[in-house]
Amino acid sequence: MKDVKILAIESSCDETAAAVVLNGREVLSNVISSQIDIHTLYGGVVPEIASRKHTERINRVVSEGLLQAGLKLSDVDAIAVTYGPGLVGALLVGVSFAKGLAFASGKPLIGVHHIEGHICANFIDHPELEPPFPCLVVSGGHTHLVRVMDYGKYEILGKTRDDAAGEAFDKVARAIGLGYPGGPKIDKVSDAGDPAAIEFPRAKVADNIYDFSFSGLKSAVLNYLNSARMEGIEVSQADVAASFQASVVDVLTEHAYAALEEGGEKIFAIAGGVASNRHLRKAFEEGCEKRGIKFYRPEPIYCTDNAAMIGAAAYYEFKNGVRSDMSLNAVPNLKLGER
Ligand code: KG4
Ligand code: ZN
Repeated sequence: MKDVKILAIESSCDETAAAVVLNGREVLSNVISSQIDIHTLYGGVVPEIASRKHTERINRVVSEGLLQAGLKLSDVDAIAVTYGPGLVGALLVGVSFAKGLAFASGKPLIGVHHIEGHICANFIDHPELEPPFPCLVVSGGHTHLVRVMDYGKYEILGKTRDDAAGEAFDKVARAIGLGYPGGPKIDKVSDAGDPAAIEFPRAKVADNIYDFSFSGLKSAVLNYLNSARMEGIEVSQADVAASFQASVVDVLTEHAYAALEEGGEKIFAIAGGVASNRHLRKAFEEGCEKRGIKFYRPEPIYCTDNAAMIGAAAYYEFKNGVRSDMSLNAVPNLKLGER
């Protein structure tokens, strides 16, 4: 098959992004325009503002994506776009723009699942990685332990019953005064803290050992802060951050090792914004090495939202003949494995 260049667009949350990806594995350009500075003022993503900013920026971001790849629209083989899950108004900006481009250029259009994109970020710069393999997806909206059976085929082993891992990071960060976005801040502040200072719970879900629950952990942190305040005990932000993070890392790694043991696989991957957490990466690097498991993780820039991962996922859809038409719409609660 001849080389396939896909122009990919991502606008599901607060990053407006465009990328060109060659054969699903090689990134020719990766442009990300983050809105974090604006949403920080409000302590979280404001959907209306996100949509407006995407609208303002998408044209320039996509042009820049082509420019940095040294290509014109007529040089690409297909146009891919995230159509769910995510914020409906934000998704619609990318979907409408991609439809317009596809219509005007006559190029095929491919709608991509955002979480599938996160998983496929592992293919970037890892030519040897192929399904099947188990993957832990940990983002702001999702915590899924899946088995990637084939390209585009997933078996969900477990997922969160309440908060996503990234959501827990964001909520705890707010409670200890770190602000938005919480994950990267806790990651950094915890360097100065003691992960064993406070014993926070490591939740298990009784009827499915692969399911997660983080709301109890979040409540435990809030209770700790309230009790300390009432008793006049000084709270160490770094100790709370490090102890909370240690609990999340323990839960995520234990679930993953249980699945690996049952499945007997010797490879494992992580994906999503929380996968950029240095402590989680280190825990998996050490734990997988001890167990003789080859551990894959995308570069941090491909863990948080980006369009290169959408271009990687779209390549396999393209090869399988999957095409979207002009009826493609934003699906805010699209499930993994659905089309
Ligand atoms: O994948 P992502 O960029 O967007 C979603 O699809 O949700 O993930 C964003 C989430 C946020 O909750 C953010 O706090 C978290 O990922 N995150 C981190 C780190 N960087 C981003 N969590 C822990 N440590 C980090 N270094
Ligand atoms: Zn994401």
